[in-house]
Amino acid sequence: MEQTHSLKKDGSKFWDANPCGGSWSTYQEFMEWYQRTEPSLYKILDNYEWHDKKVLEVGCGQGSTLNYISSFGAFIYGLDMSLQSLRQARVGAAELGSASMVSLLQADAENLPFSSNAYDIVLSIGVLHHTADTAGSISQIYRLLKPGGQAVVMLYRSGNPKWWMTSLLRAFSRLVDFISGKPNVLLESLRARQQRDSSSGTALLELFGVPILKAFSNRESRKMFASFTEVRITNQLPGFLRLVDILPWLKPIRSFLNRVDQFTEHMWGFYQVIEARK
Ligand SMILES: C[S@@+](CC[C@H](N)C(=O)[O-])C[C@H]1O[C@@H](n2cnc3c(N)ncnc32)[C@H](O)[C@@H]1O
Repeated sequence: MEQTHSLKKDGSKFWDANPCGGSWSTYQEFMEWYQRTEPSLYKILDNYEWHDKKVLEVGCGQGSTLNYISSFGAFIYGLDMSLQSLRQARVGAAELGSASMVSLLQADAENLPFSSNAYDIVLSIGVLHHTADTAGSISQIYRLLKPGGQAVVMLYRSGNPKWWMTSLLRAFSRLVDFISGKPNVLLESLRARQQRDSSSGTALLELFGVPILKAFSNRESRKMFASFTEVRITNQLPGFLRLVDILPWLKPIRSFLNRVDQFTEHMWGFYQVIEARK
C-alpha cells in the first residue's frame, strides 16, 4: 500500500516534469504532431458522435484528445494527476477557443470524485497502464458511465515486438544505473536531448523513466472489462514508423516502415483500443 502510494507520487512528479508529448511553441503545432503520430486513435474518435455529449477523459495529459473532441461540440471534463499537464491543457483550450466546453480537475483515476451514471462517454488514452490499480480504475469508469454509455480505453499490449524491446531497454537502463552507481543516467541524457528538440515527443522518456509501466494481453483486458457489454478490442500501431522521430537517419525508409506498420497492425499492434458499452 505504502509502496503503491509512493510509486504514484513519483508518477505525478514524472508527468509534471515531462508532460506527455513534450513542449511546443504553439498548441496548434502540438495538436498537429499528435494527430500525425497517433492516426489510428483519431480514426476511432471520428467514429463517434460528440455533439452535446457529456464526456469524461481520465488522464487527459496536455489535452490533445479533449481539445479535439470539444471542437465537435462535446462538454468534456478532463482529469489528470499532473497539475503541469492540466495547465497546458487549459492553455490549449484557451488558444483553440474551446475553454467554455472544457473543465479540468486534478484527480486520481483510481478514486474518481464524480457521481455515478453521469457520462455518455468516458475516454482514457494511454493512462491506465501507468497506474497501480488498472482493473479498479476500469470499475470506476463503469460506475461513472450512464447505462448504455460508451468507454473508449487505450492500453499498451504485451507480447509484441515493441513491448519486448521496451522491457529490454528498461532492464538495460537499470543495469547502466547499477554499474555507474548513479540513478537515471539514460533518462537524464534523454531529457537534455528533449530540451533541445521536442519533435520525438516523450515516448523515450516514458520508456526509461515512468515509475509504473505495464502492458496487458487482449485476454487480460477482456477480463477487466467483463462487466461491460459489446466489448470490442482492436490492436493498433506497431510503431515502427515512430522510430523515425527517434532515429532521423531512418527517414529514407519512412514509407517502408509505414508499410510494415500497416501490414502488421493487428498482429503486432503495441496499443489495444477497448471500446465497450455499460
Ligand atoms: C502517456 S500520458 C497520456 C496523456 C493523454 N491521455 C494523451 O493521450 O496525451 C499518461 C497520463 O496519465 C496520467 N496519469 C497516470 N496515472 C494517473 C492516475 N492514477 N490518475 C490520473 N492521471 C494519471 C499522467 O499524469 C499522464 O498525464
